[in-house]
Amino acid sequence: MPEPIVVLRWVIVLAVLLGIFFYLTLKRHRSIRIVYNLLMKANLILMYPVGFVLLFLFPLWIGIWIGFEIVIAMTGRMDLVLPPFYLNLENLVDLLTPYAAGLMAIFIIALRLPAGLLKEGTKISYEKFGRLQWWGRATRSMKERWQWLPTVQGLFMPYLSEKAGRGEIRGVSPTANAGEDEYKIAHALADHFNVPVFMQASDFAEMDHRDTERKGLVDFKYIPGLDAGELPLVLDRPVHFIWDMKGYLWYNATTFNPFKKRKRTNEALEMYHSLLEDDGIILIDAAVRRTTLQVLNEIIISFVPWMFYYGEGSTFDRVASVIRRRSDLFSVQLAGEGKYRIAIIQKHTIGVARREAV
Ligand SMILES: C[S@@+](CC[C@H](N)C(=O)[O-])C[C@H]1O[C@@H](n2cnc3c(N)ncnc32)[C@H](O)[C@@H]1O
Repeated sequence: MPEPIVVLRWVIVLAVLLGIFFYLTLKRHRSIRIVYNLLMKANLILMYPVGFVLLFLFPLWIGIWIGFEIVIAMTGRMDLVLPPFYLNLENLVDLLTPYAAGLMAIFIIALRLPAGLLKEGTKISYEKFGRLQWWGRATRSMKERWQWLPTVQGLFMPYLSEKAGRGEIRGVSPTANAGEDEYKIAHALADHFNVPVFMQASDFAEMDHRDTERKGLVDFKYIPGLDAGELPLVLDRPVHFIWDMKGYLWYNATTFNPFKKRKRTNEALEMYHSLLEDDGIILIDAAVRRTTLQVLNEIIISFVPWMFYYGEGSTFDRVASVIRRRSDLFSVQLAGEGKYRIAIIQKHTIGVARREAV
């Protein structure tokens, strides 16, 4: 059996080669993406026990070990110490670290990095076999159990009543996943206000989705494969509301680089501002965070299409600091409680007042 450190060296070399291979091929070949996605899941299965050992069991072991050292120092009696704690700490670190580091290297260099560097990385994770393939299905059925959508509709509908009074409501959801919620919202608005509703949903990842349909007062349109950034090219009229649950704003604010985060979120906000009617609103999720449940659900959702709480923080958590600085464009209000909380980001009419004055 080779020394753990030798194994680690070879694992890192392999991870780098695999990472380069994936980086060059992921975009073009669907079959390679399937292999990549399956490897990602297999690696996640390995990573969780390693994370559990490193973050929980290992510190616990060290704590007890220190406790026993104190007992030995005070009593001079080795027989009070349990056998696993005779192990020398340095040996244990020598043994564990290379294997844990090897797994991390595969996870980060070979798997996370290539997709992360590619613009298509997010898209790939929501595809069939992708790490987040089941996100939409699991989240929707969880929210159905909670009666989430009817509750949240009650929170934002009052903001649309004046628009309905003008004879029509137009909404867009550029990161709609399967478009199921958007379809329901459109029908709920038409039933409630008894006016024609135009709702456009789209998503850049390939997946089963609601089809375009005209029914009663609702004109529902689903555009598959559309990048939210290209929304200005396909929308011919400004909309009254933008539904963006863990979508475009969330992803633009998801980067470790705080400058990039601010720049990208600002650009997304400015794009949304240009697509909205005066007084129009952006609706984002703002559920109150429950970190332990979140981590647990993030693990569950990687393997089965079911969960019992959100597996990630809210959009509001991620973008609040940037939005609050853009009081020139929007004002923000929170509505609802706990898991039903949403943020209503309303476009200012100051611009209009200025234009009218001129
Ligand atoms: C976390 S899911 C949220 C889906 C949906 N809004 C919901 O609440 O059920 C994020 C979705 O956004 C899509 N997405 C992320 N960035 C996108 C972009 N730039 N353009 C289009 N879709 C995007 C993903 O494909 C995925 O379906």
